[in-house]
Amino acid sequence: MYLREVKKGNLFGDMAASLMLATFYGVEMQSALGWSVERRYRELTKTQMMIDEGLSRMILAENPQGMPLGMIVCTNTDSTEIQRIEAIIVAEAFRAKGIGRKLLQAAKGNKEFHAFATPKSLSWYKRNGFKVIGKHEEGTTEVTTAENVGDYKFKIRAPMPTEIDDFMVDMLKKVDQYNET
Ligand SMILES: CC(C)(COP(=O)(O)OP(=O)(O)OC[C@H]1O[C@@H](n2cnc3c(N)ncnc32)[C@H](O)[C@@H]1OP(=O)(O)O)[C@@H](O)C(=O)NCCC(=O)NCCS
Repeated sequence: MYLREVKKGNLFGDMAASLMLATFYGVEMQSALGWSVERRYRELTKTQMMIDEGLSRMILAENPQGMPLGMIVCTNTDSTEIQRIEAIIVAEAFRAKGIGRKLLQAAKGNKEFHAFATPKSLSWYKRNGFKVIGKHEEGTTEVTTAENVGDYKFKIRAPMPTEIDDFMVDMLKKVDQYNET
């Protein structure tokens, strides 16, 4: 297994990166938090843009043949001390083998982490040095590795949705309605 950072501007056309993003936003977040089609599409495209513009960093874990095994996406904040974990996922068959921890270590640098843990992943975060800040909307738990849990403030720059996004969301909703009938 090796780790590879997806460089700013190189995201589109990177199959392994797309697969991992689709698995996290398309599949995992529906089962973990019940995200709608619209929410998943908007979060996916936002993350893609953030990586492409260099506001977020993506590190992939791959096997020697280039098959993606996991990814972590972290977003810069306006605080020099904190970065947000936007997404972390390891392919189901490869979980509990230390890959998630290696991704964390690779992304750490000299910044502390902030994240919203899903109910199922909370114990993993705690086991890996995160402390609970408090409950958050949709059943997630806000967690951090920072020392002074309540004593931080930061902002994240995020791209605005475009007309194309709205068009795509309408299309996906129609597909969803069609699937339900
Ligand atoms: C959370 C996740 C990324 C962890 O990745 P992983 O590769 O399975 O984790 P690791 O093997 O590196 O785990 C490190 C340690 O935590 C333990 N661990 C793994 N999953 C755990 C869990 N759900 N609860 C508690 N401990 C866990 C491992 O056994 C290992 O223990 P050790 O200290 O004895 O070695 C992975 O389970 C996953 O992809 N989950 C679905 C996506 C998700 O929920 N992401 C987080 C939401 S943002």
